[in-house]
Amino acid sequence: MKNTRFRDKEYIEYLNESRESFFWDEKQFELILKHINLNAIHSFLDVGCGLGYLTFMMAKFLPNNCGIVGIDVDSKLIEIAQGNAKKRNFSNITFEVGNIYALEKPKNSFHFIAEQLTLSHLAGPQDAMNELIRILKPGGFLLLIEPNNIAMSVVDNSTTRNLKIEEKLAILSLEMKVQQGKIKLGEGNDNFGDHALELLIKSNMKILDVRLCDKLNPAYPPYNLTGKEKLLQFVKNELSPYWKKVFKRYYVAGGGSSREFEAIWAIKKRVTKEIERTIINDSYYNVHAGLLYSYLSTKTC
Ligand SMILES: C[S@@+](CC[C@H](N)C(=O)[O-])C[C@H]1O[C@@H](n2cnc3c(N)ncnc32)[C@H](O)[C@@H]1O
Repeated sequence: MKNTRFRDKEYIEYLNESRESFFWDEKQFELILKHINLNAIHSFLDVGCGLGYLTFMMAKFLPNNCGIVGIDVDSKLIEIAQGNAKKRNFSNITFEVGNIYALEKPKNSFHFIAEQLTLSHLAGPQDAMNELIRILKPGGFLLLIEPNNIAMSVVDNSTTRNLKIEEKLAILSLEMKVQQGKIKLGEGNDNFGDHALELLIKSNMKILDVRLCDKLNPAYPPYNLTGKEKLLQFVKNELSPYWKKVFKRYYVAGGGSSREFEAIWAIKKRVTKEIERTIINDSYYNVHAGLLYSYLSTKTC
């Protein structure tokens, strides 16, 4: 299978960091899964499984006799997921390479399919969803976990709340143009969570539950939750040449000029340096709120 942008060292680091500590509370999964008779689930698929974190979370709820499969298009991520399963002593999970648009699985073969942040990285989420519905059994369950990432850009922290309106708008316009560029380049839509409901209804899926991820990871002194050094590194990484290049490519594809990008990046850099300074001085506060939706639906026919 072809190499993807997801196998870059920086992206793997990002997947590791954000998934291990930043996401779901297991208690909230209980709320979502209460709609399903889990004992009757004998086949589960996590598609676009990446390093396997959602697969591992779901495996804790599924019965021992349930066949659990994780599929990802990138073989390097599948190898890491296999290693992660070994480290966690999961022997009932199979990780396979496969493409969400054309899964080599028969029609009506899974009781339960989940995906987290995969459809939002695709040029054709509707086609991918059709493929998931094809291999889902009638009466089977589909769980989509997708974000609106722009929301994070309008939530203040102790540094951004002091910015002028013009600076806030400049940073927001950068994020919006980056999103536009990503869509144009066929690399997905980080706000796909807003559109998933419409796609599910138009695909004749019956909605059982819609929720927001309720887990926040607030940063406040002395930063025990993430660790001070780790938090500093996370903030510094946002300005790395790798992420700058990624952002610039999307920004320009979204219709922005290289000069505008550099001007807004300079504001972002100043803000980030201030955040670093306040973390070191124990005066940085950030609730880190964002929008991550979960849609649980069932196949009616
Ligand atoms: C943002 S990551 C999410 C990974 C994982 N679901 C998680 O939440 O940690 C997106 C994943 O989708 C996978 N992906 C992208 N295009 C795909 C395709 N056509 N078929 C299967 N997986 C794909 C990527 O390789 C990557 O692992």
